[in-house]
Amino acid sequence: MKFNITTPIYYINGEPHIGHAYTSIAADILARFKRLDGFDVHLCTGTDEHGIKVARTAKKEKMDVVEFSNVVSQKFRDMSAAINMKYDDFVRTTEERHIKSAQAFWKMLKKEDVYKNVYSGWYSAQDEEYVAEADLDKNRRAPSGAAVEWMEEESYFFRLSAYQDKLLDWYEKHPDFIAPASRRNEIISFVKGGLRDLSISRSQFTWGIPVPVDSDSDEEKSELKHVMYVWIDALTNYITSFGFPNNKAYVSEMMENCTHIVGKEIIRFHAVYWPAFLMSAGISLPKRIFAHGWWTNEGVKMSKSVGNVVDPRDIIQRYGLDVLRFFLFREVRFGEDGDFSEAALQKRFSYELANDLGNLVQRVLAFIQKRGGNIVADYDISDADKSLLENSRKLIEKMRPFMDKQYLHSALNTVWDLVMEANKYVNDMRPWELAKTDEKRLNVVLTVLCESIRSIAFGLAAFIPDTARKIFNFINVKGESFGEISANFVDQHFPQPSVLFPKEK
Ligand code: MSP
Repeated sequence: MKFNITTPIYYINGEPHIGHAYTSIAADILARFKRLDGFDVHLCTGTDEHGIKVARTAKKEKMDVVEFSNVVSQKFRDMSAAINMKYDDFVRTTEERHIKSAQAFWKMLKKEDVYKNVYSGWYSAQDEEYVAEADLDKNRRAPSGAAVEWMEEESYFFRLSAYQDKLLDWYEKHPDFIAPASRRNEIISFVKGGLRDLSISRSQFTWGIPVPVDSDSDEEKSELKHVMYVWIDALTNYITSFGFPNNKAYVSEMMENCTHIVGKEIIRFHAVYWPAFLMSAGISLPKRIFAHGWWTNEGVKMSKSVGNVVDPRDIIQRYGLDVLRFFLFREVRFGEDGDFSEAALQKRFSYELANDLGNLVQRVLAFIQKRGGNIVADYDISDADKSLLENSRKLIEKMRPFMDKQYLHSALNTVWDLVMEANKYVNDMRPWELAKTDEKRLNVVLTVLCESIRSIAFGLAAFIPDTARKIFNFINVKGESFGEISANFVDQHFPQPSVLFPKEK
C-alpha cells in the first residue's frame, strides 16, 4: 500500500534552523513508521527557490541568484542528512522537471478561472503573500509583523471566489482533511468569510517560472513577461515529485494517498489555495493536511534580528541527534506551540533517555552478559508476566491509530508507558535474586524482558532510529519490519551491549 508524505519546500533566503528541522523530522518519523509497517512510502522534501524574497537576498549577498540557490539549497540537503531524514525525493523549484510541471499545471487550470487584470495592493515579501488593507495591523504591517510594500502591476488572477462553496463542501465531506481541529475551524471560517480572487503572476521581476502562453494568442507577441506567483510554483512541487505532467491518473492516485505536513502559518496556502488549484486542474486533492505549531526559544519568538534562532547542528553536536529528535516530539503535543529550552532538553535526556530507557536496556542486557550472554528462551509464562508480554506485543497496534492521525506525542506516550511498565517488572521480579533461587523462572523473566525491549525498540525506531538500531544489534534483531515483533526468541547469544546514553557529555 502507498503512503505519501511531504514537508513544505523551504525558502532558501536563510540557513536551515530548528523550525525547518522540526517539520522534516515529523515527516521522517511518519514515513519511517509506515515503512516498518510494510507500506510503500514516498517522502518528499525540497527547496522553494523563486520569488522576490530570494532574489533580494541573493542581491544583498552580492551573489548571482542561481549560484546563491545552489549553495543554500545544498544546506537544506545537508540538514536532512544531519537529522537522519530518509527522503525519497528532493524537489528544487529551479529544476527543469519542476519548471515543466508548473507550466503544465498552469495550462491545466480551467480557462475561465484565469484572467488578466491589474493588481494594486499590499504585498509582504517576507511572507510572499498579498495582504488586504483590512488585515494590516496598527503599524501598517502584515499580520505576521512583516513589512508590506505597495504593488501595482498587470497580473493574472485565479478565480478563487468561484471555489468557496466547493471548498466548504469538500471540508464537510472530508472531516479529516485538515487537522488539528482548531486549524480546520480556522480554515472553514476563513473560507466562509468570502474568498477574493488571487493574483498568480508577477511582472515586475523575473526570478520565477515564466507563465506559459498559448502560441496562437496575443500574449505571445506581448512585450510583458509574467512569472508565476511563487506559491503556485511552490505548491506544484508536490505533483512534480509524482512525475507530473506525465501519467496524470497516477499523479491523482498518489495525491489521494498524500499527507502534507506544514507549519500553522502556511495552512491557508495548503488547505484553501492548493485544493482550489487542484480542483480547477482536475487533479485529485491530497488526503490530509496537518499543521503543527511553532517553537519559541525560552519564551521568545525566534528571529534572526534577535539572534536567538536555535541551530539544530549545535544541539546535535552537544547532545546527540536522537536526544533532539526525542525532545521535539516528547515535549510538545504535535499541533501545538512549544517552547525550546536547554533545561527542558537536559531533563528529558537525563530522566527519560538515560534513566528510564538507557538503564532498562543496560540492566537487563548487562545481566544477561554477566551470565555468559546466552539467553535460554522460555515461554512458560504466569499471570505476573502476561500484562507486560501482551502490552509489548500490542504496542504497534496501539500506536497505529495515533500515527495515522499524526498524534506523534500520543504514540510516543504509548511507548513510554511500556518502558515504565518494563522497569517496574524488573523491580518486581528481581532477576538477580532469581539467579540464586530459580533458574527456570529467571529464563521466563529474561525472555519477557527481551520481548519488551524489542517492542520498545520497534516503537522508538521511527522516532530515534540510531538508538533503536543499537538496541536491535544488542538483541540480534534485524529491525526492518514490525512483523519481527512477534517472533519467538530462540536460544541466542547476545553481543556485549554498550551504554545507550552516556551521561557525561
Ligand atoms: N516556502 C514555503 C513553503 C512552500 S510549500 C509548498 C515556506 N518555507 S519556510 O522556509 O518558511 O519553511 C516553512 C516551514 O518551517 C514550516 O513548516 C514552518 O512551520 C517551519 N518553521 C519555521 N520556523 C518555525 C518555528 N519557529 N517553529 C516551528 N516551525 C517553524 O513557508
